[in-house]
Amino acid sequence: MAQVTSNLLLVSLILAAVIVVKAEDPYLYFTWKVTYGTISPLGVPQQAILINNQFPGPNINSTTNNNIVINVFNYLDEPFLLSWNGIQHRKNSWQDGMLGTNCPIPAGTNFTYHFQVKDQIGSYFYFPSTAMHKAAGGFGGLRVNSRLLIPVPFADPEDDFTVLIGDWYTKSHKAIKKQLDSGRSLGKPDGVLINGKSGKGNGKDVPLFTMKPGKTYRYRICNTGLKNSLNFRIQGHQMQLVEMDGSHTVQNKYESLDVHLGQCYSVLVTADRAPKDYYMVASTRFTKYKLSSTGVIRYTNGKGPASPELPEAPIGWAWSLNQFRSFRWNLTASAARPNPQGSYHYGGINITRTIKIVNSVGTSGGKLRYAINGASHVNPTTPLKLAEYFGVGSKFFKYDTILDNPLNIRKNRLNVVPNVIAATFRNFVEIIFENREKSIQSWHLDGYSFFAVAIEPGRWSPLKRKNYNLLDAVSRHGIQVYPNSWAAILLTLDNAGMWNLRSNQWDRYYLGQQLYVSILSPARSLRDEYNIPDYFELCGIVKGLPKPPPYTI
Ligand SMILES: *[C@@H]1O[C@H](CO)[C@@H](O)[C@H](O)[C@H]1NC(C)=O
Ligand SMILES: *[C@@H]1O[C@H](CO)[C@@H](O)[C@H](O)[C@H]1NC(C)=O
Ligand SMILES: *[C@@H]1O[C@H](CO)[C@@H](O)[C@H](O)[C@H]1NC(C)=O
Ligand SMILES: *[C@@H]1O[C@H](CO)[C@@H](O)[C@H](O)[C@H]1NC(C)=O
Repeated sequence: MAQVTSNLLLVSLILAAVIVVKAEDPYLYFTWKVTYGTISPLGVPQQAILINNQFPGPNINSTTNNNIVINVFNYLDEPFLLSWNGIQHRKNSWQDGMLGTNCPIPAGTNFTYHFQVKDQIGSYFYFPSTAMHKAAGGFGGLRVNSRLLIPVPFADPEDDFTVLIGDWYTKSHKAIKKQLDSGRSLGKPDGVLINGKSGKGNGKDVPLFTMKPGKTYRYRICNTGLKNSLNFRIQGHQMQLVEMDGSHTVQNKYESLDVHLGQCYSVLVTADRAPKDYYMVASTRFTKYKLSSTGVIRYTNGKGPASPELPEAPIGWAWSLNQFRSFRWNLTASAARPNPQGSYHYGGINITRTIKIVNSVGTSGGKLRYAINGASHVNPTTPLKLAEYFGVGSKFFKYDTILDNPLNIRKNRLNVVPNVIAATFRNFVEIIFENREKSIQSWHLDGYSFFAVAIEPGRWSPLKRKNYNLLDAVSRHGIQVYPNSWAAILLTLDNAGMWNLRSNQWDRYYLGQQLYVSILSPARSLRDEYNIPDYFELCGIVKGLPKPPPYTI
């Protein structure tokens, strides 16, 4: 009898375990209507891209491992795609929303993204990846909260604010595209926006945020702009850094932060000053021109306007480099980690490949183009990932047209080709970004989080590895490179798929400064990569082709 009971107990325990394993993570459903609308953030009416009538678009508030389902209706007159800055889409580059992985959503139709924010926490944003649509909006915040039982290394803030800052042009995205297509450069922006607005700073601006005295708030600041690094600061208040690009950091305090293109920072701000209004300021960095915007933060018991004396931005890039070096990963904070098994002790892993990425500007057919290692990327009519999956990749592109260690970078007659690097699944690689130009660069890699181990002036050589931070570099998805400097990142290529590596300067991105990294699982197994979703509408040459045999377990 006792034996039977305990067997029953065992069986029900096993069943319970199976149920726990099978229980699906929660789903969040969204329906988004993408339309044109008119906005005048700089006082000049202009055409913008709205999502559900909003500019910026709606915030997504999710929790680690949530499944996100977004049905996007494209009411524009052009094909459109959204991409998810910093979301890793593990095993699933099908949802990345780049032209190398997805057919753009034709005008007048809809497409549903299905993705999981697997093992991620932190602050992200989404943006349009097609044409120059990003110049018209279509972006918004995306936050991933820690699960309830996972301790967060700071007390729950009173509220959680998203602050999207970015430079802004009053020209329409079509005019900007035409300008770039005709071979002319982008030129300087017309202003800076904070959450789609540009404060006048005349004491009459509607507050963007309010704080209760004595309480602490989380501000998630992302640079969603096209061209400029921005410095962000709040009058009279220090900012305690707690997270960047999805990693909890050592919690240093800063007077101001340089937020480079595509990067996100979370800071805690305590309302501990005299009760009145304060300005937050976002201003351009490393430019001859000076553009800025303010936003009002109000204390709920506030008496009086903000002081018109705005805090100054720091000068020069040495300051910015020092700030980068002060960023450290909090090694003891428990959090969803991107690669829980391997890369925690990333400093002890042998590098199997070094890829040097050299940015350059040049011409092709007399027109301005930007390049990586002499190649300026163009997207073929069939997305690279689809062509590869259907076995017709060789009709559109060759792997490895660029060298890992480029010697001479020609400025003229750049090679305009689809630029795809084939990389080996699970290799531990080092990517060096070498910037020989006089302007600051910002880079981003999709599908991954990498260790940003060094930025230094000059040229890189293997000897520089002794200067890497091999202990507590922050795991992140974006990195800046100062003029005539280099940056090094380390990562394990354990996420199979086709992933975009790009300049986050949007004129450079649009005119070819990007490439794709193809990482195939040799096992062709579902454990490593998902099959193409059944509901995918195909385009280009693969439209109507029979699907290749699916990957199996
Ligand atoms: C976001 O989600 C979290 C967790 O579900 C919830 O506590 C919080 O109130 C939400 N915030 C907003 C602004 O909806
Ligand atoms: C388009 O929207 C309809 C209605 O919501 C939905 O049933 C359909 O699955 C969507 N199509 C795609 C390709 O996402
Ligand atoms: C790191 O996280 C731990 C654990 O949550 C926390 O106690 C600690 O204060 C954090 N360390 C720093 C330096 O921010
Ligand atoms: C790394 O390479 C060194 C030298 O080739 C070798 O001795 C060591 O065992 C390798 N370490 C690992 C973890 O593979």
